[in-house]
Amino acid sequence: KQALTIPKLKAMKQQNKPIAMLTAYDYPSAKLSEEAGVDVILVGDSLGNVVLGYDTTVPVTLEDMIYHTRAVVRGAPNTLIVADMPFATYRLGPAETLRNAARLMREGGAHAVKLEGGADLAEEVRRLTASGIPVIGHLGLTPQSVHQIGGYKVQGKDSKEVEKLLDDAKALEQAGAFGIVLELVTEPVAAAISKSLTIPTIGIGAGRGCDGQVLVYHDLLRYGSGIRDKRFVQSYADIGTTIKSAITQYVDDVKSQAFPQEKHGFPLDDQAVQAWSS
Ligand code: KIV
Ligand code: NA
Repeated sequence: KQALTIPKLKAMKQQNKPIAMLTAYDYPSAKLSEEAGVDVILVGDSLGNVVLGYDTTVPVTLEDMIYHTRAVVRGAPNTLIVADMPFATYRLGPAETLRNAARLMREGGAHAVKLEGGADLAEEVRRLTASGIPVIGHLGLTPQSVHQIGGYKVQGKDSKEVEKLLDDAKALEQAGAFGIVLELVTEPVAAAISKSLTIPTIGIGAGRGCDGQVLVYHDLLRYGSGIRDKRFVQSYADIGTTIKSAITQYVDDVKSQAFPQEKHGFPLDDQAVQAWSS
């Protein structure tokens, strides 16, 4: 398997081939995603919610993103990897934005970056793409602005909002973005945006009209405790329940001394030198 290139990803839209994107945050999640055939891995700043235990993505730092991106790159060396620019790391002007995006690529190993915003970031997107940093935009519900928006609300409901979404999408495309994530955008509006662009849209809670879909790894697998039901998510497994019951059995076995058994130990006359098979 070879990593998708940005031109090949853009061509998938023209060829009507849906793009399957998934988030990953570490070596095993990246490795399994690559083996399963995911087109693009997003090291999302949803890291803050699903891995680090924060309420929002706001506390996630550039250092957090670099550290996790490095692990993802080791797990998925043959997959196109996009890293989120965290909160306020691309709002201090094009120069500071370039410095931070370059760290995600040079130190993290990402192939591209994603940032939340539209026309207001045109200059930043232009500077990044001119510097060899592919950019994907993110419109609709933008979680880094949750304190501004006042909750995780569906976007693109009234005509003013719709017009702004279309303008922002156009501005990102014109500035050189290679794709746009649409989060929690009403289905007809997301479809209209997708039709109006030559670059692919990747939807999450944005319906059937997008050129690709993205889900959060932990949502897809129901991995973690207290995973909330979200209408726009399709869960394909219930790993959280599986993990909890396995750990419960382990604790019970230690307490009842059912584990370890004779076969788990090393007798004095054991011929084996290796503690595990390679
Ligand atoms: O951080 C993330 O996981 C994201 C996706 C939801 C698009 O930005
Ligand atoms: Na994100």
